[in-house]
Amino acid sequence: MIDTLNIDINKVSSSRISELDEDNLVFGKVYSDHMFSADFADGKWGNFKIGPYGNLSISPANATLHYGQSIFEGLKAHRAENGEVLVFRPEANAARLNKSAVRMCIPELPEEIFMQGLQELLELDKQWVPGKKGTSLYIRPFIFATDPYIGIRPSETYKFMIFTAPVGAYYSEPVNVKIETGYTRAVAGGTGAAKTAGNYAASLYPAVQNQKSGYHQLIWTDGKTHEYIEESGTMNVLFLIGDTLITAPTGDTILNGITRNSVITLAKEWGIKVEERPVKVAEVVEAAKNGSLKEAFGAGTAATIATIKTIGFEGTDYNLPEINDQNLSSKLMRALNDIKTGVSEDKYDWIFKV
Ligand code: COI
Repeated sequence: MIDTLNIDINKVSSSRISELDEDNLVFGKVYSDHMFSADFADGKWGNFKIGPYGNLSISPANATLHYGQSIFEGLKAHRAENGEVLVFRPEANAARLNKSAVRMCIPELPEEIFMQGLQELLELDKQWVPGKKGTSLYIRPFIFATDPYIGIRPSETYKFMIFTAPVGAYYSEPVNVKIETGYTRAVAGGTGAAKTAGNYAASLYPAVQNQKSGYHQLIWTDGKTHEYIEESGTMNVLFLIGDTLITAPTGDTILNGITRNSVITLAKEWGIKVEERPVKVAEVVEAAKNGSLKEAFGAGTAATIATIKTIGFEGTDYNLPEINDQNLSSKLMRALNDIKTGVSEDKYDWIFKV
């Protein structure tokens, strides 16, 4: 148990805040002034530091570079109308980081380190939290192996870091997705539920192939039969078929999305029937054909609620009905945003105030 971290703080001599252009924010290009770091060595986490955001120096033999023992999280801070900085569900990210850590043979990080590091970092970089509608401060905590050793074994040393980036929308328009039945993102017993670098690296090639055909993303299917919908890599996916909201259950092949969980919580609160169960590709395609597929959308921290415009499957594109502000995905987006920005009551204790 760690009570208060002793963080060595080295502030920038001159802020780069003039780089923050709220009117032209894209995702992941501009980074705030400071970053937090902690080191794991001799069986414990220590060496807590906040310093200027900048490059790291690592050995060419760094274990992460070769074998990918690395995990990360994504969460967001929003600026409330009264100027306060509100972070959405950080404790859930701290818990998920540790789930990923266990799977990847990385030492778990005490929640206090995650939370106090985050709190101190955001205190310092508060002015980087944009206030314009649709913007936020994206927060990227991560852990990676640091042993300069190229034998295969878990590293004995690690670095935990947090940096932040003021961002706009990840997807600036409704997305076209293709149901992928050739390549596989995750298999039972694999690392699909861990937020680990390799899952993302492995999905790049199939995604790039399909981007050439106009698809922004793939919807992955199970690695064994390719008959069941899984997730989309950047987000979980949900379908409104008739009046029922349907999504695949999380397990060892699907990331346990915090936005997914928040969406399900709100939908249930509103009396919407929600089913978390294996979702057959054939069922979604049939619903798209017969018109009962009213909406499909992705849910993720970066993606927020990403409306799906077109679903491609076996050479046919199924266009979904156009969305207006009365659709479920629009209502969810508004409701989540109102909670995140302090406009509506924080019934579920999701908000952490800096
Ligand atoms: C997130 O939503 O935070 C992610 O990590 C996904 C990535 C596409 C940015």
